[in-house]
Amino acid sequence: MHPITKLIRTQTERTNEMEHSTPMFLTSSFCFDNAEEMRAAFADETDDNIYSRFSNPGVREFVDRMCVLEGAEAGYATSSGMSAVFASFMALLKQGDHLLCCNAIFGSTHTVVTKYLPKYGIEYSYVNAGDPAEWEAAIRSNTKMIYLETPTNPGLDIIDLEWVAALAKKHNLILNVDNCFATPVSQRPIEFGAGLVVHSATKWLDGQGRVLGGVVVGKKELIQEIYLFCRSTGPAMSPFNAWVLSKSLETLDVRMERHAVNALLIAEKLAGHSKITWIKYPFLTSHPQYSIAIKQMKNGGGIVCFELKGGLKSGRSFLNNLKMLSLTANLGDTRSIASHPASTTHAKLTEQERFATNITPGLIRISVGLEYADDILNDILQALENC
Ligand SMILES: Cc1ncc(COP(=O)(O)O)c(C=O)c1O
Repeated sequence: MHPITKLIRTQTERTNEMEHSTPMFLTSSFCFDNAEEMRAAFADETDDNIYSRFSNPGVREFVDRMCVLEGAEAGYATSSGMSAVFASFMALLKQGDHLLCCNAIFGSTHTVVTKYLPKYGIEYSYVNAGDPAEWEAAIRSNTKMIYLETPTNPGLDIIDLEWVAALAKKHNLILNVDNCFATPVSQRPIEFGAGLVVHSATKWLDGQGRVLGGVVVGKKELIQEIYLFCRSTGPAMSPFNAWVLSKSLETLDVRMERHAVNALLIAEKLAGHSKITWIKYPFLTSHPQYSIAIKQMKNGGGIVCFELKGGLKSGRSFLNNLKMLSLTANLGDTRSIASHPASTTHAKLTEQERFATNITPGLIRISVGLEYADDILNDILQALENC
């Protein structure tokens, strides 16, 4: 069965009400018929639900569907993307371990890596997303995990998953990939050798900007550690959010197809515009890692970014001149969104760190929505004219 068919047909067991669509299991805890069943569940001798911080049928459906999509053995769903990222670090790294991290990562992940991991004695090194030679040289005897995003947020750098998985295997490291930007309908890091895949389900997986969520999927033995960490520390996904997100997954493939068609068209039309220094989209032939993108992605995703010639001032003016695109701190919505990373999501980085990851003062990130491509393009073009 194709994974998309399998995902759509993966569902919680039908209740006596014979519902077609999965109901919401809004319950904190679950009942047992007798003391023996309860004892066995607590002793992990059965898979019975005990408490929604541990498991919940609707949350499990979402996780099972994500496992189908990513080709993973197991998973755990969390309250947000950041709790999935944090749990994947805290459950698997310990004092004295070293994390090798691609330097172009989401702003809050950067904060966790640089501010919080060192508090627990976990070391880190950043390596240049675009320079593979740096990676092997940065591996130490205590390196335990490689963490990366591809495409990166917001610079859209592409890292060769086949190459980095071979590097991780050679040095016996866990390869942990944030697959938020590509989504599993375009890119499946586990097929290349990743041990873990993390997601902000808040983005394309929801696709409609409604709820926060996160998920980590991967090898069973790694997920078991993450599950035990989360079960005790409590970043569980809410059953309501799981119901919303699980339904969303049924349309992910068709939604992403249209997002990508719109994004490519917009990127092609904006290329060479007199107010833009450069434009980046993974499936534009001018992208520096185009050949890697087409090797590992089915489509280029829904994010386009470009650099305005006038820097910070033009960036602000461009946003102020938009008439239809939303100015909001999200991406992966049906509605197109424009953002200015240097003054928002990546403002906590130093100027030097922003420079190293191509987050220039005039960088604009467009999350291309499902409106008609010409309407999105025309709004961008008129804002460019006026900025
Ligand atoms: C690549 C990436 N990873 C992780 C996150 C964090 O996800 P959340 O906002 O759901 O915590 C984000 C949020 O923008 C993101 O873009």
